[in-house]
Amino acid sequence: MAPARRKMRNTASCAVLAVILGVTCRQTTFTTTSQRSKLLVVLDLDETLLHASLCKDESMSWLPPRFWQPKIDFEATGKGLVVDLGEEVPLFVSLRPGALNFVSWLKSREDIDLAVYTAGTEPYAKQTLKKLGLEGCPALFREECVPFGLPITKDLRKLREDLTRVVLVDNSAKSFWLQPENGLLVCDWDGTNASDQELDRVKDNLLQLLDMDDVRPALRRKPPDAPGDAVDLRLVIIAVALGCWLVSQSQ
Ligand SMILES: *[C@@H]1O[C@H](CO)[C@@H](O)[C@H](O)[C@H]1NC(C)=O
Ligand SMILES: [Mg+2]
Repeated sequence: MAPARRKMRNTASCAVLAVILGVTCRQTTFTTTSQRSKLLVVLDLDETLLHASLCKDESMSWLPPRFWQPKIDFEATGKGLVVDLGEEVPLFVSLRPGALNFVSWLKSREDIDLAVYTAGTEPYAKQTLKKLGLEGCPALFREECVPFGLPITKDLRKLREDLTRVVLVDNSAKSFWLQPENGLLVCDWDGTNASDQELDRVKDNLLQLLDMDDVRPALRRKPPDAPGDAVDLRLVIIAVALGCWLVSQSQ
């Protein structure tokens, strides 16, 4: 073949190859962005974004600070936080440092869908959603939690069927029992540590997850070893023993 023709053929092949590569790349980029859903960030409220306490009175300061509130951002009313019994009482709520900025950052992201999933009762939780700027965002309350033995847990499928791009930000490992690979565990906010920076860490983690087609391998956690879980186990044992006793009494 004459050198000139060979050169032309090579140039033509290169051009064809470039076009094929270009089209393939464009298609790949196009399909990944179109197939990848927004990252659904599901927020817990109590002890994750805020802490509510029954008492603001410093005369109670002989109790650990989380039972009286050194810093109060707003007041709300509720029926008690753990057991839904009794009268409505005033609650003194302290926002986690950075909570408002964290929420506005989440809301500003085009690639994030935001939801709230709380074991708190709806009337109480709605007051806090308003203060956090989360009103109008999809929210599941206590009724949508799943009883799972004594502690209640959360089922993310109530928010989205496909869990590849869903992350639950929660301070309680129990909330992850049904979908352990979708949980981002945060340490408790009990209203006391003024230099808490946990939400900055969560933001950094979420930024990493945003780039992943499936967030679950990255979130796969080691089994919970928080001291709180030992307490819950004791409560489970007490509840089971109480149940057995009640059954034996009724026979
Ligand atoms: C308070 O928060 C900071 C930052 O997250 C952390 O380094 C520190 O250990 C916390 N202090 C206590 C007493 O938990
Ligand atoms: Mg919580």
